[in-house]
Amino acid sequence: MKTRMTDSLRRPNARVPVPLRHRAFAACALLAAAPIFAQSPHDAVPDVALGKKLFESQCALCHGQGGTGGRGPALNRPKLSKAEDENAIRKVVREGILPEMPGAWQLSVREVASVAAYVKALGSVAVEKLPGDPDRGAAVYRSKGCAACHIAAGVGAGRGPELTLVGARRNAAFLRESIVTPNAFVPDGYLLVDATTVTGKTISGTKAAEDPFTIQIVDSAGRFHSLRKSELRALKRHEGRSGMPAFDTLSTAELDHLVAYLASLREAR
Ligand code: HEC
Ligand code: HEC
Repeated sequence: MKTRMTDSLRRPNARVPVPLRHRAFAACALLAAAPIFAQSPHDAVPDVALGKKLFESQCALCHGQGGTGGRGPALNRPKLSKAEDENAIRKVVREGILPEMPGAWQLSVREVASVAAYVKALGSVAVEKLPGDPDRGAAVYRSKGCAACHIAAGVGAGRGPELTLVGARRNAAFLRESIVTPNAFVPDGYLLVDATTVTGKTISGTKAAEDPFTIQIVDSAGRFHSLRKSELRALKRHEGRSGMPAFDTLSTAELDHLVAYLASLREAR
C-alpha cells in the first residue's frame, strides 16, 4: 500500500488531485524517505526489459547504448568500482555521483530496481579490447610531460583532473578524444576566464568559485584571486576551451599505447 502511494506521488502524472504546493511538499518528504522504502525487497521486483527501455532514454546519453561508455564510464564490465552489487547500483542511480552524474529522483522504486538489474546484466558483455600496450603508454605519458598537469597514482601535479582512476570513469574513445581534441569536452570546474579590472589589469585562469557579487580565479602559477564583480570592466568566459594543449602530433602507435595506459588506470593501487 505504502509503495503504491510512493509510486503514484513521485510520478509527475500522479492522478491524486493534491494542490501543487502540497504535492511539492509531499514529494520532498518522500524523497527524504525514499532510501528506507527501497531497502524492502518487496518494493522492487525488477523488470529487465523495462530497465533496458529506461536505460536507453535516460542513461545512454552518457553511458552509451548497451553501456559501452562515453562521457560516463562503460558499465558493461563484470565489476563496477563505485557500484559493486545490485543494491549499490540502485543507490548510485537514485543519488547520482556528483557533480557529473545526476540522481534519478524521478524514477519509482521499481524503475530504479529495473535499471539496476539491466546494468548488472550488462556486466556479462565482453570488455573492450584495445590495440595499445599500457607499459609503453606509461613511457609516452612520462615523455610528453602529462604529469606537469595531472596526478596519476600519486605522481604529478594537479592543475588538470586527477587521472588515477580515469580508466574506470571514461571509455577508450573518450580518452582518445581528450588527448587529441581537449576542447571537445571540458568538465565542470575547468572553465577558463579572463577578468579585466576597471584599472585595466587582466587576470586569466580557471574559475574556482563564483557568486552574484564575486568571482574566484586560480591563475597558471597557482595563485588564488578573489575579485569583486563591481570592480570589473569585463569578464570573459571561454566555454568549451580547455586548459590542456591538444596532443595531435602523436603517432598512431603512441596514441594507442597512451590510451591503453590511461584505460588501465581503473583500480586504486
Ligand atoms: C549526465 C551524464 C550521466 C547520466 C545521465 C547518467 N550517468 Fe551514470 N555516471 C556518469 C559519470 C560521469 C559517472 C562517473 C562518476 C564518477 O566516478 O565520478 C557515472 C557513474 C555511474 C555508475 C558507477 C560506475 C562505476 O564504475 O562504478 C553507475 C552504475 C551509473 N553511472 C549508472 C547510471 C544509470 C543507470 C543512469 C541512468 C538512470 C545514469 N548512470 C545516468 C554520468 C552519467
Ligand atoms: C597544461 C596542462 C596540461 C597538460 C600538459 C596535459 N593536460 Fe590533460 N587536462 C588538463 C586540463 C586543464 C584538463 C581538464 C579540461 C579538459 O578536459 O579539457 C585535462 C583533461 C584531461 C583528460 C580528461 C579527464 C577527464 O576525466 O575528463 C585526460 C584523459 C587528459 N587530460 C590526459 C592527458 C594526457 C595523457 C596528457 C599528456 C599527453 C595531458 N593530459 C597533458 C591539463 C593538461
